[in-house]
Amino acid sequence: MSQRIALAPEQLPQRNGRVLLTCAGRSVALFNVADTLYAIDDSCPHQGASLCGGRLEGRVIQCCAHGLRFDLASGYLVNSNALKVASYPVEQQHGQVYIVLDSEEAGQ
Ligand code: FES
Repeated sequence: MSQRIALAPEQLPQRNGRVLLTCAGRSVALFNVADTLYAIDDSCPHQGASLCGGRLEGRVIQCCAHGLRFDLASGYLVNSNALKVASYPVEQQHGQVYIVLDSEEAGQ
């Protein structure tokens, strides 16, 4: 079962910015890359460091702790599918932005 979380306009990151949100008790890092929004779990699947403060290059986020790089769109490690950070679809409808939390994916 999935859950759609509506975001208020002031929760949205500016172009090429990022924000850390709490959605249904989860920490979600929301990135704006050239006006496309990507939402991922703010926990590196390696050892749990925050990804929101990582180094962003295009739509690749690099974890500050040990340098692993993840594609924001798929959640997978760059050039590998050995590790995946939970990523959440972002939907827009009538100017309203929603993050879709999938209860199966979440919490892994
Ligand atoms: S915790 Fe992110 S690379 Fe190790």
